[in-house]
Amino acid sequence: MTNPFADHSRDYWVLCNAEGQYSLWPTSLEIPKGWQTAFGPESWQNCLDNVEKNWTDMRPLSLLGQRDCPVPYPFREYFALDMDPIYTSLQQWDEMLRISVPYGDDAWLASSYKHVKCVMHDTRFSRETTKYDEARLTPIPIRTSVLGMDPPDHKRLREALAAALTPRHVEQMKPWISNMTEQLIDDLVAQGPPADLVEQFALPFTGHITCELMGIPLEDRPQFKAWCDGFSSTSSLTQEEVEVRMQAMYAYITELVGRRRESPSDDIISKLLRPEDKRLELSEIELIDLATILLLAGYDSTGMELANAIFVLLTHPEQTQLMREQPKLMPQAVQELLRYIPIDAHVTFARYATEEVEVGNTLVRAGDAILASFPSANHDPALFEDPHTFNIMRPRKPNFGLGTGIHSCAGKLLAIVELEVALSVLIRRLPTLRLAIPAEEVPWQPGSLLRSTLKLPAEW
Ligand code: HEM
Repeated sequence: MTNPFADHSRDYWVLCNAEGQYSLWPTSLEIPKGWQTAFGPESWQNCLDNVEKNWTDMRPLSLLGQRDCPVPYPFREYFALDMDPIYTSLQQWDEMLRISVPYGDDAWLASSYKHVKCVMHDTRFSRETTKYDEARLTPIPIRTSVLGMDPPDHKRLREALAAALTPRHVEQMKPWISNMTEQLIDDLVAQGPPADLVEQFALPFTGHITCELMGIPLEDRPQFKAWCDGFSSTSSLTQEEVEVRMQAMYAYITELVGRRRESPSDDIISKLLRPEDKRLELSEIELIDLATILLLAGYDSTGMELANAIFVLLTHPEQTQLMREQPKLMPQAVQELLRYIPIDAHVTFARYATEEVEVGNTLVRAGDAILASFPSANHDPALFEDPHTFNIMRPRKPNFGLGTGIHSCAGKLLAIVELEVALSVLIRRLPTLRLAIPAEEVPWQPGSLLRSTLKLPAEW
């Protein structure tokens, strides 16, 4: 009998253990305890190339990532919707890894479900970062409005927003969203395949809704993409270009707020300007910053999540068929998409400890930064069995796709309605929808804030 390790003509796994060490393993053998698959099954050579690319520091992880020995982060650029296998190790630790990031302070990396939940729910962690050189992956710290505040100001802004964007308002938008989606599909059908579902479906869809919500004329939508790239792109634009775009967006929103002050309408900015409860009146700068985050989140983040969701459906036809056959499954399918899609390229915005806090076995000192990975928490096998599999029938458990704690997504009801409606109409109207190029050739947006497909060529 030949030694299975000597037979390089068969398929192999790349395995990874809790110390971040890698091994090539023949698929014919049982996976040993303590090891997880990180890549494969693939040819021996492809597995070897993968190990050489990913395992650049031979020292065990437990010797690295201490306070005085931070590990450079991100570990590598993101690839499609893949999770970096190193998280599989980190999720098993009861300690956080110390990391150094491209800009600002060193930080602790929270990657297990337990640690991320602890950081997001403990009031001793603050989002008030102005007194620090914020630990971040983008050159310029982003003005995140409500997402950069602590209570009581945070509570006041959330209440103002909740009064302007009520569940009833979202419910009332549903028929309009459905009709608009049908119209977008009518246009696709009239034009005929192939089509780019990012440019011709996901972005027009979230663009229409953002314009409707904020009372922006539809003809202004083409400018959104350039502005949003200024916030989310870290590699394709120079710092000056980013600043020019951010300033253009602030100028536009300032002007829009001025217009709504003069002639109020039924949109969210007009409602924020004239709250029924006078306690919830916002300052000019609070209003402009809030409107900016609403435009970014409502148009760009939601458009990216929708494009990624369509990519997942097109690459998992058996799950999509199940959704088509049983439309009632759509709400749980959307929850699974929010869990499965790592919308953050790596981590979310930094939190700072206001006093000494223990997170697992890590002692976090006052003033230490934490960067939490929602994607890693959503792929933690301690909570989600077989976490890297997209399975709309998995038992329902709360995931962090829309965040958690006081800063959890303020537009979550609208976001969920948008995904449910867009995906339901798309798969019903175009039952033979498929990618027009191999999945590996789908291009991904460069940058380290959010991840998304750049183009989604499809046919039907
Ligand atoms: C599917 C699309 C969306 C996803 C995946 C998403 C995801 C998230 C996540 C993960 C957070 C928490 C960030 C953190 O704690 O660091 C967040 C916060 C936020 N989101 Fe969303 N979001 C989406 C759509 C929207 C929409 C449509 C709106 C509004 C129209 C919105 C408005 C906000 C705001 C204002 C915050 C900050 C909340 C706070 O700090 O209290 N989002 N979102």
